[in-house]
Amino acid sequence: MISGSYTNEWKRTLYCGEPRIGDAGRAVVLNGWLRARRDLGGIIFIELWDHTGATQIVFNPEAIPEAHARAKDLRSEYVLAVKGVLRERPEGTSNPAIATGEVEMAVQDFVLLSSSQLPPFDPDEADKVNEDLRMTYRYIDLRREGMQRNLRIRHKAVQYTRNYFDRNGFLEVETPILTKSTPEGARDYLVPSRVNPGEFYALPQSPQLFKQLLMIGGCDRYVQIAKCFRDEDLRADRQPEFTQIDVEMSFVTEEDIMSLTEPYLIGLFKETTGAEIPAPIPRLTWKETMERFGSDKPDMRVDMEIGDISSVFAEGENPFSKTVREGGAVKCLLLPGGGNLSRKELADLEGRAKELGSAGMANFQIKEGALKGPLVKFLSDASQEELRRISGITADDTLFVMADKSWVKACGVLGQIRLELAAARGLVNPGWKFVWVTEFPLFEWDEDEKRWFAVHHPFTAPMDEDIEKLASDPGNARSRAYDIVLNGTELGGGSIRIHNPEIQSKAFAALDISPEVARERFGFLLEALSFGTPPHGGIALGLDRVVMMLCGAKSIRDIMAFPKNQKAQCQLTGAPSGVEKPQLEQLFILSTAPEE
Ligand code: AMO
Repeated sequence: MISGSYTNEWKRTLYCGEPRIGDAGRAVVLNGWLRARRDLGGIIFIELWDHTGATQIVFNPEAIPEAHARAKDLRSEYVLAVKGVLRERPEGTSNPAIATGEVEMAVQDFVLLSSSQLPPFDPDEADKVNEDLRMTYRYIDLRREGMQRNLRIRHKAVQYTRNYFDRNGFLEVETPILTKSTPEGARDYLVPSRVNPGEFYALPQSPQLFKQLLMIGGCDRYVQIAKCFRDEDLRADRQPEFTQIDVEMSFVTEEDIMSLTEPYLIGLFKETTGAEIPAPIPRLTWKETMERFGSDKPDMRVDMEIGDISSVFAEGENPFSKTVREGGAVKCLLLPGGGNLSRKELADLEGRAKELGSAGMANFQIKEGALKGPLVKFLSDASQEELRRISGITADDTLFVMADKSWVKACGVLGQIRLELAAARGLVNPGWKFVWVTEFPLFEWDEDEKRWFAVHHPFTAPMDEDIEKLASDPGNARSRAYDIVLNGTELGGGSIRIHNPEIQSKAFAALDISPEVARERFGFLLEALSFGTPPHGGIALGLDRVVMMLCGAKSIRDIMAFPKNQKAQCQLTGAPSGVEKPQLEQLFILSTAPEE
């Protein structure tokens, strides 16, 4: 079938999602894609779809024999312009599930604008199709309400963001993509330089160093919707290239950054989902969230909390007394309604705790009024009483118990068990639960490399009262960093930065970064710091993660138009791909990859 040309007479007068019962009798032109064709007693019904919705179109052989004859060849995803008159659907045939469901169009004439190969899947059924196929034909996958809605919400979020920061006196500044390695801790994507043989740009893991330079440059309040690139293992909430709402401010403390971010997020959620989120957003220190929830991104929708029953095991001889005496801890997690978990279920949960890295996980239940469990025989009556009192266990509950020489590790494993039990047993309350996590440790110890690493990045300021610990007790130095967490997902993080070169040198010394290496890697920033640096700090929110939440999506791939798969491949374009030898030669690159 030969397609016709698109002339003025075929321009749409309404979008496909617009016709309503009040439009009955109107002559209109619709443009769109053909869906769901049905032939009933010689009459052809189709749905014509565009990004606003779909309208039922009727080709009646008696009324329009010539157009009806041509319509016989129309197939799914053909692109049409259709002229006709809207009318009320016959009684009993309206479709309340769609906004146009009370009307249909009686076709007078149509023109075929473009035909389509047999599509690999029906866009309306895309949810049932494997993701690889959807990604290979992403442009077909995009032709459906769910994806269009997600893109609209993303667009709205970006507009809201730009307006909010503009209203608050921020300047949007673009920073380079071809740049030098930034210190966010993932691997860099490198780009070879043709004109500087053997040298490479790094794609930015974030605009971190540039936004600090902008503060030194007097820009005061900076924002950017910034593309970032990180070569790291991918997960449902991680992509190799993603977008940050990147913010930096001068002459501020953490209070200023938080009190700017809170109304932004609360307003954004109200505007896009209608949700009323109460202010202020609660705050937890890192130590408190680890102790109570076993995670630095606590899911506050789950009521269960971790407790400490070290005192119960401190006295006498029992399997945990040595651990407690040597400075370890015994932590517990109460599962309400778990009193009737079977031996098998308890054993499976212990197996899971071991998988997560613990030596084991004991439990207590109450049967016929008495405490039961593998550890009961080691506890005196008084200790049993204390255990009941601290944990609050009743006959309806199971208490899980874990001892470890590291309290963080015991809490971490119980924290994961907490999430898995809550998900499996329907204990996740609905709604949005934001929380700030503050006072992160400045450094973490890497057992393999036997040295300290920056938890955030090396420019994060220590808390004033912990500056001495940079040299004497780095493991207990706390930072002026903060994360914003929603429903157990880290949406963003930031910090007050070091603006004093002396403290910066101490931080590098603690990290075992010699002055030479520091100069080589960040010399330009260190030099800039010595030319009059305002106190400054900022935050970066992951736009993709924020939008994933707003859309109720399970993966950030669903809120990006053209995401990459778990192997960082774009299945649509085939990137990354091999290149011709001459191109590599121009770049002075010799590939050592095995030939395919
Ligand atoms: P950070 O590394 O914590 O901080 O990143 C900030 C936020 O960016 C999002 N994010 C990601 N989203 C999708 N895919 C990824 N691979 C990915 N990695 C990070 C997360 C995260 O919370 N320069 C500092 C910010 C600052 O200090 O101001 C930074 O980049 O939502």
